[in-house]
Amino acid sequence: MEKYILIIGACGQIGTELTLTLRERFGNEHVVASDIREGSESLMNSGPFEILDATNYDALEEVLAYYEISEVYLMAAMLSATAEKFPMRAWNLNMNSLFNVLNLAKEKKIDTIFWPSSIAVFGPNTPKENTPQNTIMEPSTVYGISKQSGERWCEYYYNKFGVDVRSIRYPGLISWKTMPGGGTTDYAVEIYHKALNQGSYTCFLKEDTSLPMMFMDDAIKATLQLMEAESESIKVRSAYNLSSMSFNPSEIAKSIQNHIPDFKIAYDPDFRQAIADSWPSSIDDSEAQKDWNWKPEFDLDRTTETMLENLKS
Ligand SMILES: NC(=O)c1ccc[n+]([C@@H]2O[C@H](COP(=O)([O-])OP(=O)(O)OC[C@H]3O[C@@H](n4cnc5c(N)ncnc54)[C@H](O)[C@@H]3O)[C@@H](O)[C@H]2O)c1
Repeated sequence: MEKYILIIGACGQIGTELTLTLRERFGNEHVVASDIREGSESLMNSGPFEILDATNYDALEEVLAYYEISEVYLMAAMLSATAEKFPMRAWNLNMNSLFNVLNLAKEKKIDTIFWPSSIAVFGPNTPKENTPQNTIMEPSTVYGISKQSGERWCEYYYNKFGVDVRSIRYPGLISWKTMPGGGTTDYAVEIYHKALNQGSYTCFLKEDTSLPMMFMDDAIKATLQLMEAESESIKVRSAYNLSSMSFNPSEIAKSIQNHIPDFKIAYDPDFRQAIADSWPSSIDDSEAQKDWNWKPEFDLDRTTETMLENLKS
């Protein structure tokens, strides 16, 4: 039987590329994009689209039935920097949207769920280098608290009700198709735009703040690999650590200077510095490697080359 897929929050940074990749793989009509707003032209014109609020259980149930959906990717969320400004709105969106899909799966209206977690589940007491899968977490941001709670609920629904929910703790994601949506690692996308448009960038993090990062193609590849893995091979039902590279603002600036020698960077840290300081600087993803053969392809220099090349055209 051919499957039908629903992406919730499809117009965001990850959802846009995820939807286009899934449409290539499974056919345009098989991948329904949804969001509370319209997205890019390529997304809107390549297949079905529904305006859908992830916190509205009945509306979600209706869309699932109409398109005979079996697989859901829940990408709607309020990200780390914005969530610090609107804590209750972030909590309501991040938790209620997750409960909606978990409960619909419990009612057998969805077979498989992908829900993204984040490195924000870790906090200031977490070992910073090569952070293990299982360690002290204690997140100190609204966003991180919602992601850690989400992980606990995913594992609970898997253990109690057999809900097939799968998750990854994404690092900061770098992409050229869609701008990021209010996270602490957004600087690593903005910097390429500014390097090309203005030749300079003022970074909101300090020059030596190392964070785990990943190019979008690797993140999408990991997501599809996890979703295609046999259920028995998935041993982690909270969320998998995932890693490809770690760098700080001064290192990304140097990598850009290899292509644009006159590029200048300045530093003016704001409230996002405290969020970044609470997160790991590198991640141990050996469980993902072992359970579903995860292997990244993009390092910093390849990311820089690809970003500059695509943003130029
Ligand atoms: N981008 C990253 O670097 C990163 C890193 C770690 C985890 N994540 C997680 O991945 C997921 C997607 O992130 P993203 O970067 O694409 O975010 P984004 O902000 O770019 O996109 C989120 C989308 O959700 C939509 N949305 C907001 N409220 C909604 C609602 N009530 N109903 C339906 N849609 C709604 C928004 O319109 C937006 O298009 C989130 O769960 C995020 O926490 C992202």
